[in-house]
Amino acid sequence: MSILQIKKLVKNFGGLTAVDHVSFEVEKGEIFGLIGPNGSGKTTIFNLINQYYPVSDGKIYFNGEEITHNKTFEIARLGIGRTFQVVKPLKRLTVEENVMAAAFAKQATFAGARKVAGEVIDFCRLNDVAQIKAGSLPIGGRKRLEIARALATKPELLLLDETAAGLNPTEVDEAIEIIKAIRSELGVTIIIVEHIMKVIMTISDRIHVIAYGETITEGSPEEVAKNPQVIEAYLGSDYNKGAQSDA
Ligand SMILES: Nc1ncnc2c1ncn2[C@@H]1O[C@H](COP(=O)(O)OP(=O)(O)O)[C@@H](O)[C@H]1O
Ligand SMILES: [Mg+2]
Repeated sequence: MSILQIKKLVKNFGGLTAVDHVSFEVEKGEIFGLIGPNGSGKTTIFNLINQYYPVSDGKIYFNGEEITHNKTFEIARLGIGRTFQVVKPLKRLTVEENVMAAAFAKQATFAGARKVAGEVIDFCRLNDVAQIKAGSLPIGGRKRLEIARALATKPELLLLDETAAGLNPTEVDEAIEIIKAIRSELGVTIIIVEHIMKVIMTISDRIHVIAYGETITEGSPEEVAKNPQVIEAYLGSDYNKGAQSDA
């Protein structure tokens, strides 16, 4: 059964169509990759799913229920969590306090939030830095904190936006392990946007490719990697140069 269905989704920013009739379905338990050159609309699709921006046209269904016009907090409560491409921790709070703040989305008590935060910190291998201020974390830790904050909301579906960008090779491997464990140990379905091919190709079950807001193709990592349109869309682009900032 599909956990998420996106039907002919459109987003216009003034005269610019950032997302142009994109449709896809994500199966429960899947790791679903979403790739495309810089500016192709990947982050915007995430922003539409959790209603950070209103949808211009099209529909979104979560577990069969239409959520196209729900409020952001309702989407989180229904079970869709996300990370942000540009990580925004509460810098003066500790790592643990940051995760607890996120946990309050589902936990009514301080003790409950602290317990969930402890579990998530453990899972994301942040134990050693749990009591330091989030503002002094290096990039690798900040990216893991971003995942931890999303997991603390106990999502059924997790949207990961370039969580491996800026990491060194060891940290990239660690991120791959954590993402795989989120699915295998926590049973969370994942949509992952990622520029680092090693990450997207090794962990995705299926990959949906967009360029200029439109779908190019969808298939297994092997199918996508040998698709001539995909190769063409990335040749001459800055595809492998890594992260860019959110618009
Ligand atoms: N809030 C916004 N206002 C205007 N244009 C935007 C906004 N957000 C994104 N865009 C534009 O939409 C397009 C897609 O951006 P984005 O979804 O961030 O791309 P990606 O994540 O694939 O790099 C880009 O041309 C970007 O400049
Ligand atoms: Mg983006």
